[in-house]
Amino acid sequence: MAPETTTDEDRVRIFDTTLRDGEQSPGCTMDEETKIQIARSLADLNVDIIEAGFPIASPGDFNAVKRIATEIRGPIIAGLARCLPEDITRAGKATALAEKRRIHVFIGTSPVHREEKLHMTVIQIIDALVRSIKQALTFTTDVEFSPEDAGRTEDDVLKQVVAAALSAGARTVNIPDTVGYCWPGEYGDKIAMVRAVADSEGGKDAIVSVHCHNDLGLAVANSIAGMQHGARQVECSINGIGERSGNASLEEIVMALRTRKDAFGLYTGIETKRLLAISQQVAHATFPIQRNKAIVGDNAFAHEAGIHQDGMLKARSTYEIMRPEDVGRDGSTLVLGKHSGMSAVADRFKQFELPYKKNDHAVFSKIFKAVADSKAMNNKYVTDDELLQDVYFPAVVKMMGTFITKVQVTDKVNGRIAVILHTKDGTQIEGVASDEEEGEIDAIMNGMRKIIPNVEIPRDGFKTGMEGKGSNATAVSTFTIQNDYAVTQSAAHKNTQTAERQALIKTFNALYATEKYKELIAEAQE
Ligand code: KIV
Ligand code: ZN
Repeated sequence: MAPETTTDEDRVRIFDTTLRDGEQSPGCTMDEETKIQIARSLADLNVDIIEAGFPIASPGDFNAVKRIATEIRGPIIAGLARCLPEDITRAGKATALAEKRRIHVFIGTSPVHREEKLHMTVIQIIDALVRSIKQALTFTTDVEFSPEDAGRTEDDVLKQVVAAALSAGARTVNIPDTVGYCWPGEYGDKIAMVRAVADSEGGKDAIVSVHCHNDLGLAVANSIAGMQHGARQVECSINGIGERSGNASLEEIVMALRTRKDAFGLYTGIETKRLLAISQQVAHATFPIQRNKAIVGDNAFAHEAGIHQDGMLKARSTYEIMRPEDVGRDGSTLVLGKHSGMSAVADRFKQFELPYKKNDHAVFSKIFKAVADSKAMNNKYVTDDELLQDVYFPAVVKMMGTFITKVQVTDKVNGRIAVILHTKDGTQIEGVASDEEEGEIDAIMNGMRKIIPNVEIPRDGFKTGMEGKGSNATAVSTFTIQNDYAVTQSAAHKNTQTAERQALIKTFNALYATEKYKELIAEAQE
């Protein structure tokens, strides 16, 4: 295991290529303004290098690189160029106004690139890259060289091109696994070999960089293997966007190094609390990420299984190896679904300060499972509102019983509407409207205040709407009433007045049952 303490030699530079390798992939094209905004966020994230684009590719790319170089301060701004004079001139011009800039030149070196694409020998390739690096050095001292498809380039050829690039003046040699072909052991060995060449040709200051594609899902693992073998720059992109299956994902690499510092002994300068926000920004500009994407996916810190939720409530480290706050998320979520257990459900009741006794587990659980199952059919979860309306209050009423059984509207008393509330113990309670302006709902509320003083309907605590059309139309009425608790319940009926009356009585009964349930728990504790 590497020691916990780290030195400058253990610092990994983050070279972000979201705006170049990322942007050039299907579904990721961005306009200039979007690129500027993302570049700004990358600077806030504290990446070391922003590869802003490929200036020769189009006038739009040139302008975007130029604007990023002009407006963004902090990171080095890099422009990509093939080993062609016009490419290098464009990259030089586009990055001219940067505070710090880099020109990144590349040429294919694997047999298939040499023979099928470039029709060049190794000697011709070395000649081209040396000339190009020298030309790039006329614009900046910071030149990076990449042998494209290094992953499939023979070791002896790779050693020759890397040595030539370093002696021509490149400061960074990047080893792309362009088609994501390597596996970690193999790629790690390759980086160790390149590092040895760099030590003899470029000196200790030469940086070896990794650039891995994800065709076999190994981009992050390969990048880390490379870093374990001496690479101190990693090329990666937000959300792993990039050609085909993408590049190595920046957020995964950064959090892997941070979370397993004990194993790797490496660190980056990234402000990790900004990871979620920039991931969402890039997803918005390109395409959504999958729910279970590591670090930034919706499910990355969400738990549904009962055993996991129970563990999380006892100690978060049972099922989480990172703190959600460290990547910019508010916290973990215990999602209530059909796999959830009563620990998470009861914990949610506790958050709402509702009385709950563990012994009554079975009643709550049965109702919860029925609601969660019906939601699962539509791939949905039980929301907090549903948990209260459809689970908690029905369960409490089931245990404590219905108190008001019927409402009867009687003759008017002194010209005011009057009702009789019939209760389960046989008493009849009269409710009378306070004046001639008040209606039936007010009369019922006045009767209810004789049972629980101070019950109120809060502002906006009552609504009735129609569902369905014509002869199928049904009125759905929802009331909230409160004293110690705020309780909301709904009822549906073809007749609007009946729906309202039933909803109000149902809501009151839930409130009454909750108060009685609380008393019962208190008595049991005495
Ligand atoms: O994957 C690759 O080879 C590249 C180079 C241009 C660095 O993106
Ligand atoms: Zn690439």
